[in-house]
Amino acid sequence: MNAAIRAVVRRAISKKIEVFGFKQGFTGLIENEYLKLDSPSVAGIIDRGGTFLGTARSEEFKTEAGQEMSVRNIKEDLELDGLIVIGGEGSFRGAHELHKRGVRTVGIPASIDNDVSGSDYCIGFDTALNTALDAISKIRDTASALERVFIIEVMGRNSGMLALYAGLAGGADVILIPEVETDLDTIRDVADAGYKKGKKHTIIVVAEGFLSASEVAQKVIREGEEHEVKVTVLGYIQRGGTPTGFDRMLASRFGAKAVDVLSEGMSEVIIGIQGRNLATVNMGFTYCVQSAIDPEIYRLAQVLAI
Ligand code: F6P
Repeated sequence: MNAAIRAVVRRAISKKIEVFGFKQGFTGLIENEYLKLDSPSVAGIIDRGGTFLGTARSEEFKTEAGQEMSVRNIKEDLELDGLIVIGGEGSFRGAHELHKRGVRTVGIPASIDNDVSGSDYCIGFDTALNTALDAISKIRDTASALERVFIIEVMGRNSGMLALYAGLAGGADVILIPEVETDLDTIRDVADAGYKKGKKHTIIVVAEGFLSASEVAQKVIREGEEHEVKVTVLGYIQRGGTPTGFDRMLASRFGAKAVDVLSEGMSEVIIGIQGRNLATVNMGFTYCVQSAIDPEIYRLAQVLAI
């Protein structure tokens, strides 16, 4: 998100547009807490995870009063021409409420869940994926040495995208995601078949939206287990850290494009990436249409796990 803020600020300055950054997201809008952003204020942040402005899951913003207060601050105090919102589905629902009240809004998708319809990728997904892959590789060393079954839980809220990509690219034997119904009774057989073929370990990647890793463990452990079952929850390490090159590129392109689109007078759109190209997508589409995993990728992961 820092890379996106940097791109917004510098693109805007190149167009002689002033920029203000609200602290803690929607909370800052309600409380009118903001910073004037100039070029030096976003120096040295392209390689820093998170957002130097802070963020919040604001309950108050979901209320009529919170939204009215925000609109007053935007229109009457700072007299802003538009607002760029960086976030996921929930953030865009909030941006839509402001649009309805006459504030021009443009969204930039940022979520490790990668669940924003209309964009192939969200900022943060690639970084989280690489963090998960690094962890899976490290865990595999213990799994192989001790011939254990490891169940590794990754984040993603209701989406299995992060688990699917981490599972495929991490060489998992089983991937459990909410989008695909899986009979847990079959997992043990997959593990046993693997050991018979000479595999030294079993790696199961589970999306938090499927079940927790310990719930999966309870269901797969059998009496007289030969291979010990261990659980690892990757947790919040997936949400931070130095962003990958891919994420920095994406964020920089999204940020600059958001300024262009806003200054052209558009509103209630998000910037998405479709293939190699940037696109503008109706904001409502991002939360009315559920994002889906690619079934081909799931099938490929199954084929490659044999
Ligand atoms: O939506 C992003 C995400 O990281 C999810 O993958 C995760 O479930 C959630 O946020 C964790 O955030 P919180 O601690 O606010 O619940």
